Amino acid sequence: MNNNQPSFFDLLLEAHISLKRQGPGSADSMRQALGFLEPLDRFGKTADLGCGTGGQTMLLAEYLPGTIVGLDMFPEFIEKLNQTVKTSGLENRVKGIVGKMEELPFQENSLDLIWSEGAIDNIGFQEGLDHWHGFLKKDGYVAVTCPSWITKDHPDVVEQFWSDAGSHLDSVEKNINIMQDCGFEFIAAFVLPEECWTENYYDPREKEIQKLIEKYKSCDSVKEYAELNRQEVELFLAYKQYYGYVFYIGRAI
Ligand SMILES: C[S@@+](CC[C@H](N)C(=O)[O-])C[C@H]1O[C@@H](n2cnc3c(N)ncnc32)[C@H](O)[C@@H]1O
Repeated sequence: MNNNQPSFFDLLLEAHISLKRQGPGSADSMRQALGFLEPLDRFGKTADLGCGTGGQTMLLAEYLPGTIVGLDMFPEFIEKLNQTVKTSGLENRVKGIVGKMEELPFQENSLDLIWSEGAIDNIGFQEGLDHWHGFLKKDGYVAVTCPSWITKDHPDVVEQFWSDAGSHLDSVEKNINIMQDCGFEFIAAFVLPEECWTENYYDPREKEIQKLIEKYKSCDSVKEYAELNRQEVELFLAYKQYYGYVFYIGRAI
């Protein structure tokens, strides 16, 4: 491969940095999850893990009264979040920090709520919940989305895709058991609707990829990246009845 070509990592960042969301989700799903956390005025300290550029972090700030720390491993995403925070005049309550979800920089028993959309599967549902539990106060909450099997059939092609992406799907029942084993009372779980993937994520991402194809006209790496993304969307459209993002909400006991 020509070294002047953007790497997949460069393309991933460039395709995602301007998006409102870096993964499937929606404001409606967030509000549905927040509905299980009422009353919201008890959430003084929240962390939003794997926050990306912080679309959901900023929405959380509209509903939660206290401080919110968005954490992500990509400095570019955190810089974008902190610019948005500044423009919104929320520096006294919201900030982005670069960090790893598997090595949280918070004090033990210090958080009222851990929020995380589309990120925990990067470190594993069990590993994530196990680690995060210790940073929550007793009776603190976790609200997290994770790709999951939503039927008993698990087509090989879907399993292979998520495994190649460094992730792994479990059934909703298994994840609820994992949540309980990690020291949480199970509160609720619900499947995110299809438009969370298509209208809110895949469609805007495709527009950004088209811009990249235009910008890096003769680069094979861009064509390969676009093709991989196209295959991902096709897989979802063909097999969406089998898997989806599920919001899991639990209370630390
Ligand atoms: C699918 S995106 C979701 C972003 C955002 N929460 C949203 O829903 O739009 C997953 C995010 O998790 C971050 N991430 C992945 N692994 C991570 C890790 N080990 N520590 C911190 N952030 C991580 C990625 O950089 C990315 O921003």
